[in-house]
Amino acid sequence: MNAEEFRRIGHELIDWIADYFEKIDDLPVLAAVEPGDLKAKLPSTPPAQGEPMADIVADLDRLIVPALTHWSHPSFFAYFATSTSAPGIFGELLSAAFDNKAMLWRTSPASTELEEVVLDWLRQMMGLDPGMQGIIYDTASVSTLHALAAAREGVEQRIREEGMSGRPDLPLLRVYVSEQSHSSVEKAVITLGLGQRGMRKIPTDSEFRMNAKALAEAINEDKRNGYLPFCIVATVGTTSTSSIDPVREIIPIGEEHAMWLHVDAAYAGSAAIVPEFRKILDGCERADSIVTNPHKWLFTPFDLSVLYCRHMDLLKRAFSLVPEYLRTPEEEKVRSGSDYGIQLGRRFRALKLWMVLRYFGHEGLAARIREHCRLAQLFAIWIDESDDWEIMAPVPLGLVCFRANPKDRDGLDALNEAIMHGVNASGRALLSHTRLNDKLTLRLSIGNIRTTEQHVRQVWQLLNEQLQLLR
Ligand SMILES: Cc1ncc(COP(=O)(O)O)c(C=O)c1O
Repeated sequence: MNAEEFRRIGHELIDWIADYFEKIDDLPVLAAVEPGDLKAKLPSTPPAQGEPMADIVADLDRLIVPALTHWSHPSFFAYFATSTSAPGIFGELLSAAFDNKAMLWRTSPASTELEEVVLDWLRQMMGLDPGMQGIIYDTASVSTLHALAAAREGVEQRIREEGMSGRPDLPLLRVYVSEQSHSSVEKAVITLGLGQRGMRKIPTDSEFRMNAKALAEAINEDKRNGYLPFCIVATVGTTSTSSIDPVREIIPIGEEHAMWLHVDAAYAGSAAIVPEFRKILDGCERADSIVTNPHKWLFTPFDLSVLYCRHMDLLKRAFSLVPEYLRTPEEEKVRSGSDYGIQLGRRFRALKLWMVLRYFGHEGLAARIREHCRLAQLFAIWIDESDDWEIMAPVPLGLVCFRANPKDRDGLDALNEAIMHGVNASGRALLSHTRLNDKLTLRLSIGNIRTTEQHVRQVWQLLNEQLQLLR
């Protein structure tokens, strides 16, 4: 493609994206397709000859958009609502153009050094300890996997060299999480060969926070039974309810047993940039590692997860392996991303975060997150004031857990499920659910940069319409 054609198609595509955002309010949030619909419309064999870009772009409208669930829709309230932003999109575009593989400092000094600087900015914005250094991975699942690998390296059992199988000398290693922790921790435990019995789930209190006393008892019991407790994963902002584990109470328990404390703040970490919410990270100044996802609530396009770690040396010890063809004269003086993880090549993700932080500024980002939390409180007040609905968990940030509970109805699980499917099928909003105290619970997550009070009022109306239809 020559420069002239690239310029022309590029301009057209930017126009296409601008139009997409202009009309997104009118698109159905949840893709209105059945399983297999898209596959049935696509050729089953690859194109033998190249096709004109115009035909490919036309198929975006015809085939791809109808099969999209629009995460950027302002009425996307499911899971954790997230959104991209204009500077983030530009960052992705440029990163694709540069196509750097930042495995070594010299293969991308820009990516390596920008990452260090931008992550230190974010660290300051979140009020994290200067002893923490950051590194970017794709997702929180992968950040947590790396944190646990570093923690495992720290137990000094020569696991890197000897492995874990067939070793009668190796005690059974255990990680502790709350019952509300994200499944990514369990996946990391499985991947690292600790096995599911290498993880113990600690009960939570009435507000879905880890019970610190039960944690201390579990660790003591496991030690008596020959386990080696080596890591606690606390969650700041759990997936189901956004509950916040009592990190300050957990810290001394971990320290007593020389355990690693990893904090999963994948969702809520971004909120710590708002001065009045910084307290959610109370106690985290003594954590060993913390994960937060700018791709969740910092208007940075997927994917970009940050792991802050106090022991980069252990992370490096767990993963560094440098064959001759990757040796460089400057390796002692600089950081090479590939020393800190599974991947060799690394995308230039810092660029989009740099553009987002600069474009909005700390105050601009904080103002948007603050507004999301205000809208969540407003929605929670409507629920509280209604006889037909009830709140199912505290609302510390931008997530509301609730359900319909009209006086005259049994079968509340089925009713709430039907309400949710009714709202989602309308295409005008998207909600998701969880189960709390064995009750089906609806979740409304506010985190999209385009969501306004008007959108929250509309979903409240939709919910009430569905309830009237079904009662
Ligand atoms: C608390 C928590 N941790 C981890 C994750 C996993 O995030 P990712 O998709 O970046 O792996 C999620 C996802 O929602 C989450 O809510």
